[in-house]
Amino acid sequence: MSNARVAAARAIAGMLEGRSLDQMLGEQALDPDQRPFALALAFACARHLGSARALLQKLLSHPNRARPASLDAIVLCGLSELRHLATPDHAAVAETVAAARRLGLQRQAGMVNALLRRYLRERSRLDASVASDPTAASEHPGWWIEQLRHDWSDHADAILCANNQRAPLWLRVNRRRGSRQAMLDQLSASGLNAEAHPLLDDALRIDPPRPVEQIPGFLDGRLSVQDAAAQRVADWVQPQPGQRILDACAAPGGKTAHLLERCPDAQVWALDIAPERLSRVQENLDRLGLEAKLICANAADTAHWWDGKAFDRILVDAPCSGSGVVRRHPDIKWLRRASDLAQLSATQGELLRKLWPLLAPGGRLVYGTCSVFRCENQRVIADFLEEVHRAGGSTAHLWQPSEPVPGSAEAAPGLQILPGERDEDGFYYAALERR
Ligand SMILES: C[S@@+](CC[C@H](N)C(=O)[O-])C[C@H]1O[C@@H](n2cnc3c(N)ncnc32)[C@H](O)[C@@H]1O
Repeated sequence: MSNARVAAARAIAGMLEGRSLDQMLGEQALDPDQRPFALALAFACARHLGSARALLQKLLSHPNRARPASLDAIVLCGLSELRHLATPDHAAVAETVAAARRLGLQRQAGMVNALLRRYLRERSRLDASVASDPTAASEHPGWWIEQLRHDWSDHADAILCANNQRAPLWLRVNRRRGSRQAMLDQLSASGLNAEAHPLLDDALRIDPPRPVEQIPGFLDGRLSVQDAAAQRVADWVQPQPGQRILDACAAPGGKTAHLLERCPDAQVWALDIAPERLSRVQENLDRLGLEAKLICANAADTAHWWDGKAFDRILVDAPCSGSGVVRRHPDIKWLRRASDLAQLSATQGELLRKLWPLLAPGGRLVYGTCSVFRCENQRVIADFLEEVHRAGGSTAHLWQPSEPVPGSAEAAPGLQILPGERDEDGFYYAALERR
């Protein structure tokens, strides 16, 4: 069994080599009592990695000398614990040094102790010395800051700031198993502070967040974890009884399940390219008592899985950079590369091109990403519209729900929620009807 600080340091070392925190933390055998602290430490470190790395460079006498990756990781965790968690300083230093020994860094344990103690002694000077570095100040890589300034000049600072906050816990009420009001009443009777989303019918937030297994209603399928912005997608799809609906990028099944909770009589096909992720769709549907046709395939390879009958609705919740969900997954900003965006846009455009012919006349294709980068959103839709119009034949018309979302940013064709707006994740939505 790993100790929490050892697990957090291993997760950070893995992240620095390109692996996700969820994957790294999921692989480690951790005592259930230790898991919340390991997660809190690893996520705080990822969230504030820009400044922690800049500080480490200042603290080391020979910053360019080769070091074990685990040494950087444990010092970065130690700095993050001192700066962002409530542990008393002396305990944070002593426990970090002990964790360094458990990581096999016996010879470097004295150095870990010295670096953290020096940080504590010279804290204000060191913090000030990194404040002018954009990556340390904003906790984002340089290319990401530039992309945001290019795409959202007026909102870029607010987005960066929102990305550094901890994510709230939004839940979705399974309306097939009771009303939201009944759920709110039950949660408050259990001593939880829960409130309804002002604009979304099924969403409620629990503050402070807590592990879902401890929330009444989760294990028996009356509640699911889903950000409010993701829940809005059902209002764009508007599933109707009897409709054939394709959820082309379905895993882990949050939106598939929401569509079925809204409209159990719809025939939903849930497709995903990743088999291990598709099995999570089944688990979620089983917990919620819902049924869909599950298919493991590349959605763009329609000859392999389509039965030739048109769909009334197609949802393309496209693979994307995840730049709208950095609050929830702070490792994303360090794992992505600027060069990923071109590849992602190409995949997004390809999915639209291949799936559009499967839409029935009068049908609606809803496109969404949890990204704020325009090249994955407006650009993809605008390019696709142009292509459809150039090709002639069927025409694609933009559609939006009649209820506007107050205060949302200008993102035509489509709608963009920026991270932190009404405490939601960043999300982009567009819908095209085939006429
Ligand atoms: C943003 S996630 C979908 C989230 C999901 N809709 C939900 O609400 O739970 C994108 C999904 O697209 C899948 N994917 C990526 N490329 C695909 C492709 N060519 N065909 C089908 N699925 C794909 C990924 O495996 C991933 O599960």
